[in-house]
Formats: sequence, structure tokens, C-alpha cells
Amino acid sequence: MRVGVLTGGGDCPGLNAVIRAVGRRVMTRGGEVVGVLEGWKGLVDGLFEPLGPREISGLLPRGGTIIGTTRTNPFKLEGGVEKVLASFERAGLDALVAIGGEDTLGVASRLFEEREFPVVGVPKTIDNDLSATDYTFGFDTAVWIATEAIDRLHTTAESHNRVMVVEVMGRQTGWIAVMSGIAGGADVILIPEQPISIDDACDDIRRRHERGKDFSIVVVSEGYELEGASDAEDVDQFGHARLSERGVGAALAREIERRTGYETRVTVLGHVQRGGSPTPRDRVLATRYGLKAADLVGDRIVDVPLKDATAELKRVPEEWYAVAKAFFG
Ligand code: F6P
Repeated sequence: MRVGVLTGGGDCPGLNAVIRAVGRRVMTRGGEVVGVLEGWKGLVDGLFEPLGPREISGLLPRGGTIIGTTRTNPFKLEGGVEKVLASFERAGLDALVAIGGEDTLGVASRLFEEREFPVVGVPKTIDNDLSATDYTFGFDTAVWIATEAIDRLHTTAESHNRVMVVEVMGRQTGWIAVMSGIAGGADVILIPEQPISIDDACDDIRRRHERGKDFSIVVVSEGYELEGASDAEDVDQFGHARLSERGVGAALAREIERRTGYETRVTVLGHVQRGGSPTPRDRVLATRYGLKAADLVGDRIVDVPLKDATAELKRVPEEWYAVAKAFFG
């Protein structure tokens, strides 16, 4: 069995952990793994690199993706899909593991539906905006980084009696903003899904200051619809505009200062949220996805009677130990 692996779309911490897990599992079963370089572009242009034990070693804590990524959409290129099928055939691949977000997996889904292309999708994105999963790997790391930034901004905000606006990523969803905002104790959180007005946000800040708190932390998602902010003209092959170009954080900070009179500064976290080593949680999630892309485990917080919660000791189940065992020896 020759299995191709590709990573598409924006990179995120944990991609290499998936590549490692796929590699280990396939090699243990006597198969071969081939890296398809730079996302779907690698299949359009025939860019491959064999991945052996040496290549996949040391990948667990490593950020980014060793096989590169692009936002190439073969369906948008002249003859793109035919090229994908031809180079897949030429490389002697039997199956492809496509690791990506809605765009990369959208291509995988169309190839499967329309051309019976043998592909398994592994969901990744720091944005956590894929509806069929509770969590995508990369998200926990992004939230951790954003939370740490909010903690740091708290101390300087307090020293100067300032309002600090923190702009985080997330595209059209506010997952990073809401989770890091909760974890960091933000005073106002603005997300695309809950379009509270700047007036309401300013009222919250004023109320807080009237209670004797001289500083505030405002977390805003890059996709928040700010009055007057418009999308950049440039769109990628999937039709997405670059939201960071809208400068929502800076515009919001200006408005808050103008309307409240409180001195306000902005910090745009940007790609720092996607860089570096994955958190332990993302490493584990990525590893489990890599070993078995199909099985997703929900871990929603639910109410249970205390009697049930304490009824028995929760032991490590067999399937979890099996994940660890895949890397023994
Ligand atoms: O989808 C991941 C993401 O980081 C978004 O949160 C952000 O809007 C976008 O990618 C940034 O894209 P690029 O890396 O092309 O600037």
C-alpha cells in the first residue's frame, strides 16, 4: 500500500504529528508513505517526496508542516482535476490522506464524490469552524497562545489605565476569541456570530470603569462585522478574502477611544497564533486523527449526578492505550 499525505490551507500546530502518526501506522503494516508537497498543488504539479522512518522522526512537537502547504484549488485550475488524477496514478499511490480545513477537505470531498478518488480527510484548523467535529487540532494551541497574550496585556493595561483591544484570528467564526476571552477574563468579546454594537461594547467598558476598574480588555475576532470595515479585494482560490486586511482591531480601538475618551491600544496577534509547537492536547488529538481519521470523540461538558461521577474509578481504556502502543519500540 502506497499512501500519499498532503497538508492544505493555512498551517497549524499538529500537522506534523498527524504525518508522523499516519507514517508510523502505514509503515508498521508494511506500507509506504509519500509526502505530496505544498497541498493540492503537489498533485497538480507532481511534487512528491518519500517519507521514511527518518523523515517522520522528531515530528511530534514540531510546528508547521514538513511537506509544505498552499491554498491551491485544482477545481479552479485549467485541467487541474485531470492533473491531480494523472499524477496520483503516476506516483503509484493507492490512497491519499488529505489534512486540511473546509477548503482542502471540500476538494477531497468533490474528488471522492465526482471521481471516486480514494481519499481520507483529517480535519485541521486553528479556527475550529468545522461543524462535524467538536475540536480540530491547532485550535487548542491558538487559544493557549491568545490566552497568554491576554494575560500579558492585562498587566500592562492595568499599569496604564488603558483599554486594550486584542484582535485574534478565526475567519467567520469567533471560537478563538470566545475561548481565549473566557480563559483570559476579557471584559468584552466581539465575534461575528453575536454582532453586538460598538455602542454596547462601549457601554460595558464605561460601566466597568464606573465601578472603579480603570482598565479593560476587549477581544475581537478578525471576522467581526465592524461598521465601515470592508473586505480586501484580493481573494484566494477558494474565494476567501484576507480578513486581517480589514484592520478590525485598529478601527475598533480608535472608535472605543473616540466614544469613551479612555486611552486605547490595539494588539493584532496574527500568525503567532499558528506558529510553534502544539500543546499536548493538540499533539494527542493529531496523533489520534493520524492513526484513525474516522473516529471522532466528543468531549462536551455535560451535567451528571455526583453519584454517577464518583461511582467508579475511570481507568485508561484499551483504545487509548492502543494509541500510545502504536509508537512503542
Ligand atoms: O484559517 C486559518 C487562518 O489562520 C485564519 O484564522 C486566517 O483568517 C487565515 O488563516 C489567514 O490566512 P493567511 O495565512 O493566508 O494569511
